[in-house]
Amino acid sequence: MGKFIIEESGRLRGKLRVSGGKNSVLPIIAATMLTDETCTIHDVPALTDVLVMQNLIEDFGGTTNWDINRETLAVSVKNICKTEASYELCAKMRASFLAAGPVLARLGEVKMSLPGGCAIGSRPVDLHIKGLAALGATITQEHGYVHAKARRLHGANIYLDFPSVGATENIMMAAVLARGQTIIQNCAVEPEIVDLANFLTSMGAQIRGSGTDTIRINGVESLRGATHTIIPDRIEAGTFMLAAAITNGDVELTNVVVDHLKPTIAKLREVGITITETDEGIRATGSGHRRAIDIKTLPYPGFPTDMQAQFLSMLATTPGTNIVTETVFENRFMHVPELVRMGADIKIDSRSAIIEGVPKLTGTQVKATDLRAGAALILAALSAQGVTEIHDVYHVDRGYFRFDEKLRGLGAKILRID
Ligand code: UD1
Repeated sequence: MGKFIIEESGRLRGKLRVSGGKNSVLPIIAATMLTDETCTIHDVPALTDVLVMQNLIEDFGGTTNWDINRETLAVSVKNICKTEASYELCAKMRASFLAAGPVLARLGEVKMSLPGGCAIGSRPVDLHIKGLAALGATITQEHGYVHAKARRLHGANIYLDFPSVGATENIMMAAVLARGQTIIQNCAVEPEIVDLANFLTSMGAQIRGSGTDTIRINGVESLRGATHTIIPDRIEAGTFMLAAAITNGDVELTNVVVDHLKPTIAKLREVGITITETDEGIRATGSGHRRAIDIKTLPYPGFPTDMQAQFLSMLATTPGTNIVTETVFENRFMHVPELVRMGADIKIDSRSAIIEGVPKLTGTQVKATDLRAGAALILAALSAQGVTEIHDVYHVDRGYFRFDEKLRGLGAKILRID
């Protein structure tokens, strides 16, 4: 399973390059199934989630060539050889469900295992299914599978009850090959949606309005191969800014889009961290004097739920009463009992965590329960007194490329034992 052993590390200092975004690359790899031509994707981080998506493409009959050192992935799906995705791959990663839209659009049929619950909540896919049904698919759900069929999808007006990132992506990927116009209202506006729209547009899709709450798509007959560079990972960037904040360090990040980091930067400044734009990116400098803040997670451009756990680690040692409210996922405080084991004073009241900052955390054995919870524990351990052992670190590999190596480059005392 692997574990990290982390010692109190002092101030982290240095400069590092942020990798391509996990949440951008996964739908973009799925979208390569919309064409029989080769697509080449740059800045693909070697994450286990990306590996699962690569396996899924191959499972559907595609061929891939992943140059891990150059971070380039070439995908060619001449024919999709089957309609049903392997249960094992679907069960490994929720984002596997992003194959539904492209396979349905290209083949007229797809059968996917319903993603089960996960540590952070039940996470249904009803909005994905409603969207595909509105595009003309006949949907049946039985024995834990969703089966969608349509000779050819048609355009539709779709209003999402909630601006779901995955549902917006799946509907977009299905609609680009549908007959006629699709309008998706109250859709997600995350930067990853814009990245996917840019990739689809370079494949020949006709999409307007990505990044706003209404996307208009005119379906086309076919799409061609394209080359694309993935946007930087705003959550990885945020996590390293927090590493600087929590250790009173000084870290410069390159390969960032500052605009994507606005909500994270706003909260870091509010807590007392100095954030400056540099010629190459952004720099976070801790002062040692932090003040208590309140945070509420929201869909973009609100504060990202994927940064909630990492902030909680910092607020655990921020003097005063801090309140963090999670509105996006129903059960995303699994890291709290682990932080409490490290000496944090945190109480959960419904969807809020009330954090009374303590002067210092102390190292002990803790467990990563999910990806961002794992990152949060690593950050907490960097400034905790003594040694912290973090178990189940495979969660961290899902979303951080060489996390321990990058942290060591900044002076962190972190060792990985597999
Ligand atoms: C994506 C991100 C994830 C991030 C999340 C919210 C990827 C691969 N993952 O996940 O890192 O935390 O956005 O920013 O991009 N919901 C429904 N029905 C649906 C779909 C979603 O009720 O059909 C609910 C979910 O249970 C959740 C909320 O909507 O409570 C947000 O989910 P969604 O935006 O869909 O997140 P994902 O696309 O799964």
